[in-house]
Amino acid sequence: MTIYDKIGKTLQQLGISDAQGVESLFAELRKAAEQERAELVSRGAPNQPQRERLCKALRDRWLARKGGFLSQVDENWLKPSSRDLKPAVGRQFNELRRFAAGLEFEKLVEALPLQQEPSQQEELPLGSVAARPAPRDLTLPGLRRPLGSIHPVTRMQREIEDIFLRLGFWIESGPEIESTYYNFDALNIPETHPSRDDWDTLYIDSKTVLRTHTSPVQIRAMEKYGAPLYIIIPGKCYRHDNPDSTHSPMFHQIEGLAIDKDITFADLKGTLDFFAKMLFGEKVRTRFQPSFFPFTEPSGEVAVSCFVCDGQGCRVCKESGWIELMGCGMVHPQVLRNGGIDPDKYCGWAFGLGVDRFAMVKHDIHDIQLFFQGDVRFLEQF
Ligand code: PHE
Repeated sequence: MTIYDKIGKTLQQLGISDAQGVESLFAELRKAAEQERAELVSRGAPNQPQRERLCKALRDRWLARKGGFLSQVDENWLKPSSRDLKPAVGRQFNELRRFAAGLEFEKLVEALPLQQEPSQQEELPLGSVAARPAPRDLTLPGLRRPLGSIHPVTRMQREIEDIFLRLGFWIESGPEIESTYYNFDALNIPETHPSRDDWDTLYIDSKTVLRTHTSPVQIRAMEKYGAPLYIIIPGKCYRHDNPDSTHSPMFHQIEGLAIDKDITFADLKGTLDFFAKMLFGEKVRTRFQPSFFPFTEPSGEVAVSCFVCDGQGCRVCKESGWIELMGCGMVHPQVLRNGGIDPDKYCGWAFGLGVDRFAMVKHDIHDIQLFFQGDVRFLEQF
């Protein structure tokens, strides 16, 4: 029989006949009142109207003149009690009233926490502690969120950066929205020169472009630091290309620039050969072929012997045994002059490579678009 059942019965029906029985019966009831209050506080209320409603319900349940637990106790326990027991029951009843007043059901309205925890909001009748859902098991393992990883293009960029940082180069950067002066003119590509068409340029206005290569930062760095200068310049570049498996209107380059006294083509070859061996392994050989760029003279294309088949011919090198790596050359004297450096005192070399292409070659990826589609099934392989 619960204490709530006992309230509906007389002491006689409950078989209580001495002061001690009365005392423990009232103790049980005080405990129930205290528990109900604690229960309400721990559940809280989702909003202010609910808070007021719940507090009033608790107060009425115990203190309502008609049908409240206290008046039931008065009716069922006190009034019909035997003459012997009446003094004891009366004392206990007064104490119960004091106790109930001390619980301050009215003041609960301010004390009750407002909380949104949905799982705790089911409205269970008060006094049904045993029927409440089990509290959350805090020992259960948590939800695991998948960890991200470095994008393969970023990772390739960092690998290349690391090699040049070890050689004493530092990293420089410049704007992606660039003037035609830095992107072309200062690099010895005058407006009327047909080689401007080599870069399918995205124009913002007649004097502003999305840079088509990282080479404009050569000039900016020369202006900023003068000579000597050993830098690499990683960054995004843009060209008016239709996206396909080898073209993307946005791609990544790394520019290299070394300017000092007595720099020769041998320094360029030695540096790039070392770089290729660091990146693709000791075994690879490099090949330099003549080429043309308006800002270098002489200019070259660098290829590396295929690191997969060792030059025998395979899918990665398209059966040629060689993989094209980059354009390079000795910095054109006019470019040095445009950057404020005296070409009679200083000379240098430069190169430009496509980071995306490097990552494709390294990981045998056949579609550059995969880098930019954000498909986790692709990205989680790196
Ligand atoms: N800027 C050239 C390009 O985008 C690459 C290059 C850089 C060539 C530096 C030579 C020297 O094609």
